[in-house]
Amino acid sequence: MRLLRSCSSLVFAVFVVATATLSNACFAQNAPAASYTPQVGQEGKDVIWVPTPQALVDRMLQIAGVTAKDYVVDLGSGDGRTVITAAKKLGARALGIEYNPDMVELSKRNAAKEGVSGRASFMKADIFETDFGDATVITMYLLPQLNLKLRPKIAGMKPGTRVVSHAFSMDDWQPDQIESVEGRTAYLWIVPAKVEGAWRWEISSSGPRSYELMLRQHFQMVEGLVKADNKTGQVRNIKLRGDQITFSVMEFAGVETVIRRDFAGRVSGNSIEGTMKSPNGTGEVKWTATRGAQ
Ligand SMILES: C[S@@+](CC[C@H](N)C(=O)[O-])C[C@H]1O[C@@H](n2cnc3c(N)ncnc32)[C@H](O)[C@@H]1O
Repeated sequence: MRLLRSCSSLVFAVFVVATATLSNACFAQNAPAASYTPQVGQEGKDVIWVPTPQALVDRMLQIAGVTAKDYVVDLGSGDGRTVITAAKKLGARALGIEYNPDMVELSKRNAAKEGVSGRASFMKADIFETDFGDATVITMYLLPQLNLKLRPKIAGMKPGTRVVSHAFSMDDWQPDQIESVEGRTAYLWIVPAKVEGAWRWEISSSGPRSYELMLRQHFQMVEGLVKADNKTGQVRNIKLRGDQITFSVMEFAGVETVIRRDFAGRVSGNSIEGTMKSPNGTGEVKWTATRGAQ
């Protein structure tokens, strides 16, 4: 009887140890080890992992003008350094999208160590299948062809969204700024408003009353033709930065006389609202343009 009791205790003990060992083994398989050390150059889904040096991360966020009001998304976030820097140094809310689950867990641990888990989050996902349309700032260190694949989505984001890429450009979408840090390059683009089309407005001040402006656009590069009171003028120095547009209308009032009027406005869908500076600094007049059917 005593032998039987000893045997059943032994069976129970073996069962407990075996269960514990098994569940530990399962846990170890599911949860990446806290000691996971990524290797520079390791395979990634569409591009290998190479981290951006911290000095360039800082500059990229600086040229994007990141503040606590921003929502920064790093596409292919690696060990999370850009996201964590945006949250810790600039107080922004930030998200890293990363395909490699070990890197995601590592990033979460790094964010916790830096005390920014509340503002810096990470998701295991494919950047080509994830919606990042709410971002006010995009950062990336990918490849030229990946930037190009993302370009339509990025160019369609809210005007004023800032995009910074380490090393790689976006083909014929010219950057708004180029920066160099320790021999590495970062490019900044500001998503421009869509301004192509025919715009009309009236102004009640001295000079022409009605304006027609035809704009053609290639990203932030814009050219135009203008008529003021049905007379052809010239439009010069068109600058488009996000939703802010400025340009000058030159009116030829005689052989030697050119009158310049400077316009500035904010584009919102099919309307532009702003102010026109009268010639010779004689004051400002409000103007509101509307875009006709395209
Ligand atoms: C060159 S590293 C840049 C890491 C980080 N952004 C930085 O600048 O330090 C590119 C990262 O993108 C990840 N990646 C590659 N293809 C991806 C995809 N389709 N979706 C999400 N992440 C991807 C890789 O695993 C790698 O960590």
